[in-house]
Amino acid sequence: MGQRCLYEGKAKQVFETEEPDVLRIVYKDEATAFNGEKKEVLEGKGRLNNEISSRLFQLLQEKGIQSHFVRRLSDTEQLVRRVDIVPLEVVVRNTAAGSIVRRTGLARGTVLQPPVIEFYYKQDDLGDPLLNEAHIAQLQLAWPWELRSMEDMARAVNSALLDVFADAGLDLVDFKLEFGRTPDGELMLADEVSPDTCRLWDQETGESLDKDVFRFGDGGLQDVYEQILQRLGGTPDGENV
Ligand code: TMP
Ligand code: ASP
Repeated sequence: MGQRCLYEGKAKQVFETEEPDVLRIVYKDEATAFNGEKKEVLEGKGRLNNEISSRLFQLLQEKGIQSHFVRRLSDTEQLVRRVDIVPLEVVVRNTAAGSIVRRTGLARGTVLQPPVIEFYYKQDDLGDPLLNEAHIAQLQLAWPWELRSMEDMARAVNSALLDVFADAGLDLVDFKLEFGRTPDGELMLADEVSPDTCRLWDQETGESLDKDVFRFGDGGLQDVYEQILQRLGGTPDGENV
């Protein structure tokens, strides 16, 4: 397919398709962490993230949560609706881990009730800083009602994913979402939902089954992601495209 590449990020490429409202996402094998400081090619990671993300978007849809996901196209590709990505990372935390521990001194593992929702500025040059609502208004990144809407959607995604992962024997510690605006200005869940963007702890062993194995560990990411895919029921539609 000789279509124009609209965007290339650390983990994905986005291409136009013949349909103006539909884009094709290709999941890459590159893994990065700490704003690209740590970087490796991990063979098979693109397929695993595409399959897990496709499966999770499908499960969310079954629970009434719409997203940009249209369908899985191949091992490493999916079709999505074209949206303009809001340059905010919306993080939902059920349990303290990662940067909230470093920023606040809360003990790792502290249950956060109600879940903590945070906004980060998607701006690699600045290291994706945490923003408050005044910063977001000043930078004109989103309207106040859009922030409320993203928070509401993030809470709904959290409730749905807590159930999905609990059924798979996993605690959903935290995760990051991105939203986009459709041509008629509606906000829609976008990007990906995968072990790259979630912290998942095994309910029995407490072991990290997510990108922390790459951030802080010494490998084995593909085995861990394969285990997540299997626990979620395997390849979407049971097909092998
Ligand atoms: P943090 O504790 O490092 O702020 O991460 C919170 C959650 O967001 C965690 O599940 C990992 C995810 N995340 C991303 O998806 N992309 C990022 O660039 C960062 C920093 C975190
Ligand atoms: N995704 C970010 C990076 O590639 C940070 C992370 O996930 O830890 O650097």
